[in-house]
Amino acid sequence: MPQPFDPGYVAEPFLTLCSDYPGADVYPSQEFRVEWGPIFHRGRLDGSARVLVLGQDPAQHETIVRRILVGEAGRRVQGLLARLGITTSYVFVNTYLYSVYGSVKAATRRHPALVDYRNRWLQALLVGQQVEAVIALGQAADGAWAAWKATPQGQATKPAYAAVTHPTQPESSAGGDRTRLALATARMLRNWNAALQALHPGLTHPDAPVPLALYGDAWAEGDRLPIPAIDYPAGLPAWMRDNDGWAARKGADETAKRRNITLTVSKGVVA
Ligand code: URA
Repeated sequence: MPQPFDPGYVAEPFLTLCSDYPGADVYPSQEFRVEWGPIFHRGRLDGSARVLVLGQDPAQHETIVRRILVGEAGRRVQGLLARLGITTSYVFVNTYLYSVYGSVKAATRRHPALVDYRNRWLQALLVGQQVEAVIALGQAADGAWAAWKATPQGQATKPAYAAVTHPTQPESSAGGDRTRLALATARMLRNWNAALQALHPGLTHPDAPVPLALYGDAWAEGDRLPIPAIDYPAGLPAWMRDNDGWAARKGADETAKRRNITLTVSKGVVA
């Protein structure tokens, strides 16, 4: 059976953006895992996107797949997009090209070359295109949007905009405590419901029109959706698409962990 795939960066301006990108002089290696290279996007680059999602930074699964938001956070966002009737007409870019290591200094966050390069992507995806709504995942992405809106072109483009809680913020904030996780998840889903209410009426060209349906106060069946095969590079094995946990940073100390991502084929794939 033919397998759909993402052909990659085959047309301008993406060809140029992907051949000439900021490195460690802009993204310091003390703050970013530049050794694993930049990871640029996921979704449609052919002008068909109606929703632009701004994420934060790639993690280990994204590093191997070379597309962003391909893990649990991505599956949660696919569910959010489906509630807007968006099944394929989307594009994702991150605030940062490289995985954050520790925290990002304010001076780095505001580095003109970092901001300008990201704005070139936003320009390519928004100016003269048909994006109707932008969703920012977390505070860094909200800041990225503010930096774009501070440019003349950013002021001239006026899609609907919602800044939402990052999809894995509940896990990051709960510190392994189940009660705190449940509360943070409920809080996040209320926040996402507010975004749905704000954005749903303005999305006039959904892929699959759906009536507005809000989340409950915990994840329910169907809230997390698979990432379509067409978002992945050609030939990616199916088990890399199905679940998280197949890529882990392992090592005896921080440097070793930084140097290593261990891949493990999911159970049941090899007899
Ligand atoms: N979270 C993000 O915001 N971006 C990614 O690429 C992965 C997880």
